[in-house]
Amino acid sequence: MAHVARRTAAGRDPGAGAETAAPLVPSQPTLPSLREAAAGCRACPLWERGTQTVFGVGAARSDVLLLGEQPGDMEDRAGKPFVGPAGQLLDRALEAAGIDRSRAYVTNVVKHFKWEPRGKRRIHQKPDAREIRACLPWLEAEIAVVRPEIVVCLGATAAQALFGSAFRVTRERGRVVASPLAPRALATVHPASILRIPDQTQRQAELSRFIEDLSAAARLLG
Ligand code: URA
Repeated sequence: MAHVARRTAAGRDPGAGAETAAPLVPSQPTLPSLREAAAGCRACPLWERGTQTVFGVGAARSDVLLLGEQPGDMEDRAGKPFVGPAGQLLDRALEAAGIDRSRAYVTNVVKHFKWEPRGKRRIHQKPDAREIRACLPWLEAEIAVVRPEIVVCLGATAAQALFGSAFRVTRERGRVVASPLAPRALATVHPASILRIPDQTQRQAELSRFIEDLSAAARLLG
């Protein structure tokens, strides 16, 4: 991946307009130093819309790293990943699968909330390839520091960030595989996609499948 050099010569903000966040990643990263550096990230234009950088949360050396797409409205305000409705569903599913969230590191591929206004509401927009590429150095550094036994990708954006754009969650969900960034990874659906299913029976069935997928990760952790 080609990273551009830090552009300070022209007197610009070091984080502004860089192609990726790579120049901002500390050379000996720890979670606190990464979090601090990411707070000022301007590697893509999303920082202008978000309230703050929503960096990952959890202990260094967590067994499992849970990877979402990007913070939502509530996460953007709280500054923490997966605290809104999708996070609450995730918590229930993790508990049912026997994964203790306090043993997990939880983060997103993109660290700023991308949204467009609709009346008074802020409507989620999918991050594009450039925004994902810009943010990826933060995730790479988080994985390098946390060194999880397994990365669980929640939804297509997370899975494709790890496995490439040809990856299809529908085909591969629930299977433990090797990935370029982590020794083991598994993809499943995004909890928000379960919340969007209108039919209660179908929603319940999807939740059960989601718990089964998470259980495959739990079995690996022993
Ligand atoms: N959806 C995500 O992908 N991540 C969050 O943190 C919240 C909702």
